[in-house]
Amino acid sequence: MNKLLMSLVLCLGVAGSAHAMQGDAEAGAGKVAMCAACHGADGNSALPNFPKLAGLGEKYLYKQLLDVQEGRRVIVEMTGMLSSFDEQDLRDIAAFYDTQTPAPGVANDAELVARGEAIFRGGDLATGLPACTGCHSPTGSGNDLAGYPRLAGQHATYTTTQLTNFREGVRQNDGDIMVMRTIASRLSNKDIEAVSAYIQGLR
Ligand code: HEC
Ligand code: HEC
Repeated sequence: MNKLLMSLVLCLGVAGSAHAMQGDAEAGAGKVAMCAACHGADGNSALPNFPKLAGLGEKYLYKQLLDVQEGRRVIVEMTGMLSSFDEQDLRDIAAFYDTQTPAPGVANDAELVARGEAIFRGGDLATGLPACTGCHSPTGSGNDLAGYPRLAGQHATYTTTQLTNFREGVRQNDGDIMVMRTIASRLSNKDIEAVSAYIQGLR
């Protein structure tokens, strides 16, 4: 598994540098007025079912925007909102949110957080679950070049929804090798709750 993960990191890293078109954060700032109601003016959403976008990683953000625009990721609340944007717009928007400062979150339930930390840092040998740190980094700040999003500080409600959606196959835009669908299939509801609580307080 570790070798597989390593080659995956390398492949995605190389693919990332092939793009010529660059995002312009300043231009992006002028294109996100209608996003602020849900995601916050600086990409730090107030409501826990709307994800924070600040600092998630430019490559990851661009990929999500493209996936939403082209229907590979369905977000009902965003229906039609990206349809008038071209590739440069989406890259600018991704650059804008990536350069915003992520607001830290707080973890409340100590017992849940301890279990979540064990999963995040150690995975689970018995079920073949890899540690999240391998791709999302020990601080949860992700790996922008590889397209692994920042997780640290994200709302637990949103993270719980994503992990459940990956597990149930509702979210399917994690690529042909189904990285996150495979990982989530090894997480119980309790595990998902725990790791999401830990991630919310991670900084
Ligand atoms: C009415 C509320 C709403 C508005 C307005 C909205 N979004 Fe979203 N957005 C959401 C929700 C809800 C999700 C998460 C859906 C889910 O649970 O998968 C989301 C997810 C995203 C994601 C994926 C984040 C991740 O971590 O994977 C991106 C990127 C995004 N929105 C960008 C935008 C941009 C850019 C705009 C403006 C053009 C916008 N959104 C407007 C509600 C909204
Ligand atoms: C082999 C690398 C790898 C490992 C290990 C990994 N992830 Fe991921 N993760 C990814 C990739 C790649 C994506 C982005 C998928 C996409 O492009 O939509 C992702 C996306 C996510 C998302 C969605 C973030 C968002 O903003 O919507 C969550 C939540 C997540 N991972 C949690 C975890 C947790 C929790 C673990 C450990 C149990 C973990 N990941 C382990 C590669 C990995």
